[in-house]
Amino acid sequence: MSRQDAVAQAAAAADRLQQTRSITDLHVMQDAVQRALNLGASLQDIAAARADADHERRQAEALFEPGTLVVTVGPGASGKSRFAATFPHSWVVCLDELRERVGDDAGDQSATPQAVALQDLLISARLERGLTTVVDSTNVEARVRRGLVSQARQHGRPVAAVVFLADLETCEARNSRRPANRRVPAAVLRWQHEQTLAAVPLLADEGFTDIRTVGATSADWAAAPRSVRAAARSLGVSWTAARPTWKPHPTQRVRDTDAEAVAGAPGRGRGGRGA
Ligand SMILES: Nc1ncnc2c1ncn2[C@@H]1O[C@H](COP(=O)(O)OP(=O)(O)O)[C@@H](O)[C@H]1O
Ligand SMILES: [Mg+2]
Repeated sequence: MSRQDAVAQAAAAADRLQQTRSITDLHVMQDAVQRALNLGASLQDIAAARADADHERRQAEALFEPGTLVVTVGPGASGKSRFAATFPHSWVVCLDELRERVGDDAGDQSATPQAVALQDLLISARLERGLTTVVDSTNVEARVRRGLVSQARQHGRPVAAVVFLADLETCEARNSRRPANRRVPAAVLRWQHEQTLAAVPLLADEGFTDIRTVGATSADWAAAPRSVRAAARSLGVSWTAARPTWKPHPTQRVRDTDAEAVAGAPGRGRGGRGA
């Protein structure tokens, strides 16, 4: 594990502890912090990672009108889950995770029908309550997107599409680094990538009220088929190098050192005691 990953894990464990205040999570955090320290990180690094994640979360929360159904559209390994992870965990409905819940294996496609049924139930429950919901799945097929748009409409909620335009080679490289059960077959990945580009001109007509792109470089964008670029421009869609509209984070000064600075003072934060 890299030092950066260890720091990110320790920061996430501290966040979790702050919400749950559970002894188990305290131990998980201690282990994670120890791992990061062993790899040469400092407690300040971990606290800074927490501040960064917090900032990113606030930015993410402000991206969409409250109550929006946010639909990711993109091939495997294009960055959908990475994007989804910047939102509060409870906002995200991830199909891989649901496949794992119903079939013990996130990559087991035979569990898809049951996972989709759960996905729809969760989406509907959250939209009914007016809560922003991020659907983390490929959604490269118009038929699948139609179902999602129709769910948002039934509840009178806005529906945003976030299209992941990372180039095929990047997706292939990331895909090849995944564990075997999570790897998308090469031909399927190529097809998903094509379908993603083909989706861009269709999204407005499909009823999406907010369309954004993530992950394309200017070179990717220049390489996209002319029809896609023209349609995107006419919809006011533009490429962004990484994530849309996020401002750089002014480095925050953090209290130093002890574990409390990492976990946050008791009673502060979103969860609060016993939440
Ligand atoms: N913009 C990016 N820059 C660097 N790494 C990225 C980026 N987007 C995604 N990744 C990495 O690529 C891998 C696949 O991303 P992931 O979000 O899991 O894809 P998806 O959910 O679309 O299948 C992950 O290891 C992730 O951290
Ligand atoms: Mg994913």
